[in-house]
Amino acid sequence: MSKSFYVTTPIYYVNDVPHIGHAYTTIAADVIARFKRLQGHKVFFLTGTDEHGQKIERTAEANGEKPIELADRVVKGFQNLSQVLNITNDDFIRTTEDRHRISVEEIFKRVEAAGDIYLSEYEGWYDVRDEAFITETQLEEILSLPEDKRPIIEKVKEESYFFRLSKYQEPLLEYYKKHPEFVQPSYRLNEVSRFVEGGLRDLSISRTTFTWGIPVPGNPKHVIYVWFDALTNYLTGVGFPDNEKMLSENWPADVHLVGKDILRFHAVYWPAFLMSAGIELPKTVFAHGWWTVEGEKMSKSVGNVVDPNQVVEEFGADVFRYFLLREIPFGQDGDFSKSAIVARVNGDLANGLGNLVSRTLGMIEKYFDGKIPEPTSLNSGDEAIRDKAIATVDLVEKQMNEIAFHKALVSLWEYIGDVNKYVDESAPWTLAKENNQERLGAVLWTIVQAIGVITILICPFMPKSAEEIWKKLGSVDPLNSKLLSDAKEWGIVKSGQIVEKGQSLFPRFEDK
Ligand code: MSP
Repeated sequence: MSKSFYVTTPIYYVNDVPHIGHAYTTIAADVIARFKRLQGHKVFFLTGTDEHGQKIERTAEANGEKPIELADRVVKGFQNLSQVLNITNDDFIRTTEDRHRISVEEIFKRVEAAGDIYLSEYEGWYDVRDEAFITETQLEEILSLPEDKRPIIEKVKEESYFFRLSKYQEPLLEYYKKHPEFVQPSYRLNEVSRFVEGGLRDLSISRTTFTWGIPVPGNPKHVIYVWFDALTNYLTGVGFPDNEKMLSENWPADVHLVGKDILRFHAVYWPAFLMSAGIELPKTVFAHGWWTVEGEKMSKSVGNVVDPNQVVEEFGADVFRYFLLREIPFGQDGDFSKSAIVARVNGDLANGLGNLVSRTLGMIEKYFDGKIPEPTSLNSGDEAIRDKAIATVDLVEKQMNEIAFHKALVSLWEYIGDVNKYVDESAPWTLAKENNQERLGAVLWTIVQAIGVITILICPFMPKSAEEIWKKLGSVDPLNSKLLSDAKEWGIVKSGQIVEKGQSLFPRFEDK
């Protein structure tokens, strides 16, 4: 049985409704999953919610509800968002499920059996919002911030189980050296290495001052630290500990997508827990950047938190998906603004892709009664468009293997530009006037083939628009039966199919 490609998103806290930050990671993971399927891989794609911990317990308390009631209510918003965004996850995990408790207990026991857990006392600071223990260096950093920029931290003194993280300092550094692809982009690996080189203290992995969590096996006075609990979701989701078949088909994960703020948990703690439990490490943790909104940090107190459902209502899911992945290189920070979306819609989508499709299909309707012509002979200009298509497929594939979404989209739009230029230069309207049916047929057939290739390549990014184009081309076989290798077979759109120009795919924004 060949291994599936396994991709994950972080699991989202249920203390609040989803915002564009959550939508971003989920969309990125979906595009990877869809692209891998297009390459012919079997894929397992997991997302879900992080429902335990002090933050959730407190939010519930403030709302006058039980933590599980809060979770049951908020999780619906995340599950619904997946549908709204057209996400193709294979499962949705909630950390309050029984299967997850069993999995966390098992990991805890394995780490304990390895001699890496001991009982002591934690005295120090805790950041409830980030659910993070604050190290000495972090405390100094926090105290050096202006008061209004400081995270709220609390003094904690309680009995606690500790994980011997210090023991893994050298093994981790060695691992990073041997597997530089483990943390991406590469500049993030330097950050992580520096953090580990700075020295690792043993990590508190249980709490006694609240109860909303998974009890420590054998000592239910303690609940397991929410990050120990949450990270384990990646194993639970693929059948750990009992479903050996599912586990061997999917584990190790190929890529954990995370925001830069939670990289340390994924690139330091998580591999250390796994090393201790004797479980293979994920292949890559990829950290993306953060979005500001109209130039400002997104925050509840500023009141500028963007609801992804509203963006989709206004612009549609495909435009939102395209914008997020095209606007900034994956890994870097960026700014979300309406004017930037409108510029992308009008420029790349309406003028670029939309215009190419509508004018081509319009000409086929006008000159060939809507029937895609049969080409008789092709000239070197037609062949150049074919060769560029094949080169674009290869380039996009390489860039997607590097998780460089924006580069892949740039390559794709360069090709769309080339095809639009070919249309202008071939001037089918002049050929029609001259009654040159043979050249006219060859040119329109060539453009349609180029559109076919483009449709397959944009499908992971804009699945609905791709389907629409595919239908407009009059294709009968489903688009999702196509593979990337088919995109290289020039002639994927059959002569004789009846096209339908219909409504424009991406109306310019001021036209709306
Ligand atoms: N529950 C933890 C993750 C546990 S994974 C084992 C968590 N949840 S979260 O809901 O707070 O955040 C989830 C993700 O949203 C993180 O990857 C975070 O980086 C991302 N984002 C939160 N705000 C963001 C932006 N403004 N921009 C981009 N991503 C942002 O952390």
